[in-house]
Amino acid sequence: MSVHSTVVRTTVPQLMACKGQRKIASLTSYSAPFARILDEVLDMILIGDSTAMVGYAMPDTLSFTIEQVAAHTAAVVRSTQRACIVADMPFGSYQESPRQAFANAARLLASGAAAVKMEGGIALADTTRFLVERGVPVLAHVGLMPQYVNTMGGFKAQGMSEESAERILQDALAHEKAGAFAVVLEGVAESLGRRITESLAIPVIGIGASPACDGQILVTEDILGLSGGRIPKFARQFADVGAVIREAVTQYAEGVREGTFPTLDNCFGVKKS
Ligand code: KIV
Repeated sequence: MSVHSTVVRTTVPQLMACKGQRKIASLTSYSAPFARILDEVLDMILIGDSTAMVGYAMPDTLSFTIEQVAAHTAAVVRSTQRACIVADMPFGSYQESPRQAFANAARLLASGAAAVKMEGGIALADTTRFLVERGVPVLAHVGLMPQYVNTMGGFKAQGMSEESAERILQDALAHEKAGAFAVVLEGVAESLGRRITESLAIPVIGIGASPACDGQILVTEDILGLSGGRIPKFARQFADVGAVIREAVTQYAEGVREGTFPTLDNCFGVKKS
């Protein structure tokens, strides 16, 4: 017997249809407890390779592997029903060739993702086309690309000069032409964010780009006060979840040390009197 659910996941074409209609709200997640909550509210959840930094305390995203992304993707997919799930292609999993990219993208789709995200400019547009023609929806990522930290010389805002702004616009247009369903635009001058959003027929999802973008994405830990450091200029801390956790853990530890936790109510084989 098959069981039919009435809950339907947001699809890639539905995200595309948001352009000009309503803003796309998205965040990153890599674990079931967070994904379950995010799923109630968001259009899209990204298993970002920023997990390397926020979840594994790595200095950058470069050492994250396809196996790790696939495992986190499966956890997020199992704990969600509504949001469109997009998985990041980690560094080294797609730059070598379109065939390498397809083989690794297929692993992420097999883990339940509906689409993959790849960082890269015009040079990567052929890879986007190769994947899209083979049934892999692609979310392109241009502007500040954290996987290029070594060539960029740090995590620096991009598109500040005319020349660099024009190059990023051409990057975004090339991915649109190649069939990307949307573009993540990170860390660019606000005027460029607006210009690219107006120039593309597909949604532009900003992170440190412009309020004019068709949607926004941030790292969840940054908005919850859980990233353990300085909040980036483009993010806002909407809650201090760290303080809530600290308070709960303090009460637990006090209960254990003072002998008020556990009580007999928490024990097995104890008859209620
Ligand atoms: O890895 C990531 O989390 C990202 C987003 C923040 C866009 O690329």
